[in-house]
Amino acid sequence: MSEATIYRYIKPETSPRQNPEKFIEGALKFIKEHLNTEDRVQILLSGGVDSVVTAALLDLEIGNRLYVTHIDTGFMRIIGGQEEPQIIAEKFSGFKNLKVVNARDLFYGHVMNMPDAEEKRLGFRRAYEITTDQQMTESQCNVLAQGTILPDIIETEGGVKSQHNVFLKFSKVKKIVEPVAGLCKDEVRRVAKALWENHKLKALEGNWLRQPFPGPGLSVRTVGAITPEKLGIEKRANDIVESKVDEHSLKKHGVILYIDAVTGEQIPFQSFAATFDDKLLNTPPEVAKMAKEKAGQENLTCNILDIKVTGVRDGKRIYSQPLCIESPTELDYPTLKKLGSELPDETQLSRVLYKISSKEGSQGYLIAIRTVNSIDAMKAWVNELPFDTLRSIADEVVEKCGVKSVYLDISPKPPATIEYE
Ligand code: XMP
Repeated sequence: MSEATIYRYIKPETSPRQNPEKFIEGALKFIKEHLNTEDRVQILLSGGVDSVVTAALLDLEIGNRLYVTHIDTGFMRIIGGQEEPQIIAEKFSGFKNLKVVNARDLFYGHVMNMPDAEEKRLGFRRAYEITTDQQMTESQCNVLAQGTILPDIIETEGGVKSQHNVFLKFSKVKKIVEPVAGLCKDEVRRVAKALWENHKLKALEGNWLRQPFPGPGLSVRTVGAITPEKLGIEKRANDIVESKVDEHSLKKHGVILYIDAVTGEQIPFQSFAATFDDKLLNTPPEVAKMAKEKAGQENLTCNILDIKVTGVRDGKRIYSQPLCIESPTELDYPTLKKLGSELPDETQLSRVLYKISSKEGSQGYLIAIRTVNSIDAMKAWVNELPFDTLRSIADEVVEKCGVKSVYLDISPKPPATIEYE
């Protein structure tokens, strides 16, 4: 298996923050310089803003020689009751050689029933390599384009995250081009907006407002071993959380997400549900004591969730258990912030989850609601939704998904990560 040569547009002359059009000019020049007139380029389109902008830039430069494929891994979302691959097929039909490939059996075979998070990620990566090679052969392409962005490279090389498409080994790919590799998420959004407004690329209409979604999709949010039942619950819970947070943002800000003009923060950056097996263990007394002191609540219930999830320590990715807390009186956000950021730092825990809703006698799953604000995903803060809104979302998840309990993840990144695996 020979290594592919990667061409990354890592240092654009002009940032899209200053002038998106100038960046587009530079990116098109970069593509032209690194492609021969015979090259046929394959891109795997996730539907997220990074891969769509990459496809759009290539579409502008090489048109018919671009082959756009969306892989239905089986781990994509349900959005508003509709399967995401179906939405993508309609939304991006403007790309010339678009196809949607059902690869669910392959991905399920590599990922289902594996308890270990790193093995799951490796399984996903292997299925991704196999599918990419198959698509390269089918569309007779010799070049692969990827929408990798700067934080993906920095954090994967630095050992904080394990991006699904960085450091892959393909056998059919000799050359890779990454025209947005020098950008952060807010910059990619600015390019997306310009591509729609100035170049009228239909695929970009409204697309700069999509929240980031990880390549391995719901496989990293269905935490631990995945079964069809657990994945089904994750899909339904995630749809409820996403749509309800969108509804709240629309009511409050008039848009589903916006970028703060002063701080550059995207609010919210991501909102989703993660599904766990409901296995709670006793907490070491010293940890419970610390938690009670920080909460100012002697009757706080503390349990450790029996699964290791990702966190960040000294700039590196770690795996350790989360702490689940339940309070008889409502805790305010300053207190939750203290618990969520200080406890993991002072213990071996990865993060803290705060109970919002529960129902006795339901199925043995626990859901965490994760809603965060961030500039570039390298740091993130909890998006402080009003408790009434949170409770109504959590109650709906308990009712419609038949799960036992719903918690809010109250840890920032660091010490937690945004995702769980
Ligand atoms: P973490 O969990 O490391 O995530 O704080 C940071 C950002 O990266 C996204 N993410 C991924 N995106 N492939 C992707 O395309 C991946 O393998 C992957 N892992 C994490 C995550 O959703 C967040 O925005």
